[in-house]
Amino acid sequence: METRVLEIDPLEDCRAAYKEAAALLAEGKLVAIPTETVYGLGADAFNADAVAEVFAVKERPHFDPLICHLPNARAVHEIAEVPEELRGLVDKLAAEFWPGPMTLVLPRKACVPDIVTSGLPTVACRVTSHEAMRGVAKALGHPVAAPSANRFGHISPTSAAAVLKELGGSIPLVLDSGACSEGLESTILAPCMDDKGNPAVRILREGPVTREKIREICRVVKPSKRKDAEETAPNAPGQLKSHYAPAKPLLLCNPRGPFQPQEGVSYGLISYKGESKLAEMDCWTQVMPLSPGSGRLAEAAVRLFAVMRAMDECEDVDVIVAEELPTVGLGAAMMDRLTRASADRNS
Ligand code: TXA
Ligand code: MG
Repeated sequence: METRVLEIDPLEDCRAAYKEAAALLAEGKLVAIPTETVYGLGADAFNADAVAEVFAVKERPHFDPLICHLPNARAVHEIAEVPEELRGLVDKLAAEFWPGPMTLVLPRKACVPDIVTSGLPTVACRVTSHEAMRGVAKALGHPVAAPSANRFGHISPTSAAAVLKELGGSIPLVLDSGACSEGLESTILAPCMDDKGNPAVRILREGPVTREKIREICRVVKPSKRKDAEETAPNAPGQLKSHYAPAKPLLLCNPRGPFQPQEGVSYGLISYKGESKLAEMDCWTQVMPLSPGSGRLAEAAVRLFAVMRAMDECEDVDVIVAEELPTVGLGAAMMDRLTRASADRNS
């Protein structure tokens, strides 16, 4: 199959492109669509066969449920039943973070096919700030079920070129709006009642909406072991130990060092600012800084997956070493991805 790339500029009128993408989805086909976090591989969420094709193309296990992308926050009520006691909190979170990089896991309605939720009683709802995904969902008239547009376990794509490397030849269309502005997958929250009977959230995946920002709105409770086993254990491969992984081994190292290189192995360093003790060692065939300009976490987050991909493609790098990042703000989500990328693939 030939994969067509259709460039779009959301500053201009893109309705014709969104209609074209929606028409393919309505026929049961798949389209890669940008969001502010990463590119998604979209299917009509109400077409179980099309959703099955998403799992096939990604080689994704069926126990890993998909996120439903909605044109606006009101549409949540078409697929989810928000419990009375959580309505105030859900409205507050939606007002604060939607459209934006937050996903809410809520009790599902029967109209959502089992295959979308992997048979769970909940559905993941997201209203992205990227006009393309919202525009396509609106033109389709159904939610768009879309995981990240990469093969299962690989690095998420933050550009159309990265989507083509992952899925080129397997899907008919990619909408290309350039690089994603956030670069890390959405924060996934499960609203719940805490042990005192107050509305709170559990963080199922760290992301651009940081723990600090969420705490300004509500209490964050730790995933209880029993509940977690029930609700997220088999079904959140974003939470699997090995995920977001380059093909090459990746090691994490303190930026102050020490790092002991092995003879005969060539190492590439992913450095936060490119100015650490570690970066000054002479054992690197490549040093790629995440935030060469501002030295800020937001810039590092936008570049993280693209830099991991670039290192993976360097012929003179056998093993990737990444500096540990401060686990505050966006650093927590980045360390989550790097830790999973470094995990033993057999674990
Ligand atoms: O930023 C994002 O969230 C991107 C863009 C495309 O929207 N999507 C994304 O999808 O990262 P994916 O499929 O790669 O990761 C979605 C995660 C999965 O790890 C899945 O387990 C979790 O969301 N998830 C989906 N439905 C869930 C549910 N009902 N309960 C718990 N976790 C769920
Ligand atoms: Mg993914």
